Amino acid sequence: MVVRPMSGQDIDGAVALQKACFPDPFPEELLWSRCHLQRHLEIFPEGQFAAVESGFVVGTASSLLIESERWSGPHSWKRLAGDHFFSGHNPSGDLLYGADISVHPNHRGKGIAKALYSARFRLVEELGLAGFVTCCRIPDWLEWSNLTGILDKTEYCLRVIKGEIVDRTLSPLLRIGLKFAKVSENYMDDVESGNAAASLEWMP
Ligand SMILES: CC(C)(COP(=O)(O)OP(=O)(O)OC[C@H]1O[C@@H](n2cnc3c(N)ncnc32)[C@H](O)[C@@H]1OP(=O)(O)O)[C@@H](O)C(=O)NCCC(=O)NCCS
Repeated sequence: MVVRPMSGQDIDGAVALQKACFPDPFPEELLWSRCHLQRHLEIFPEGQFAAVESGFVVGTASSLLIESERWSGPHSWKRLAGDHFFSGHNPSGDLLYGADISVHPNHRGKGIAKALYSARFRLVEELGLAGFVTCCRIPDWLEWSNLTGILDKTEYCLRVIKGEIVDRTLSPLLRIGLKFAKVSENYMDDVESGNAAASLEWMP
């Protein structure tokens, strides 16, 4: 498996990967299409990575640049990324914002996300940025809240941090070294996460 900058030839594989990584009930209209990935490569090629094994795209990481001022305000997908074409990308931004990371279900738990994150962290250092930020799904919150009757997402995240609960998305990102900043309500349409996300940071 090799992690390298994404190229136009990876786009079909990256589109197929999205479908495998975000099954129902995640809204299909929120997935990358060809035209989105093409645009990311046009405006910020350094920020797009692919993990490739035996010629197949098994992981991708898509990022853009934003300013610290934007990160210090409310976190919503629209406010941070702009849209699926990364209209929010600011070439003078001082933070690398992770819009997505996807690893194929058959290739999980083998360090691919960790390798993609190493590439992101290296990029932060190479560009002399202040840090890396992202908003992470908390997809196991829904089942947990149904079982416990506790709706508070901050309590959920704190329990994941303590290791009392395993969340299939937040737990790996914490293991990779991202630090929990806060819960951001109404981040995007995502029933399993209660439409919220865990805002995470990494500073060099
Ligand atoms: C989240 C995701 C990217 C993780 O990818 P991955 O390649 O399986 O992660 P890695 O193998 O690099 O694991 C990183 C660390 O997390 C741990 N980990 C991986 N999956 C885990 C899980 N389900 N539960 C708990 N820990 C897990 C690994 O053991 C590793 O820790 P270690 O280095 O201390 O051993 C992947 O599950 C995925 O694509 N999910 C669907 C898409 C998604 O939700 N993306 C994020 C949007 S915010």
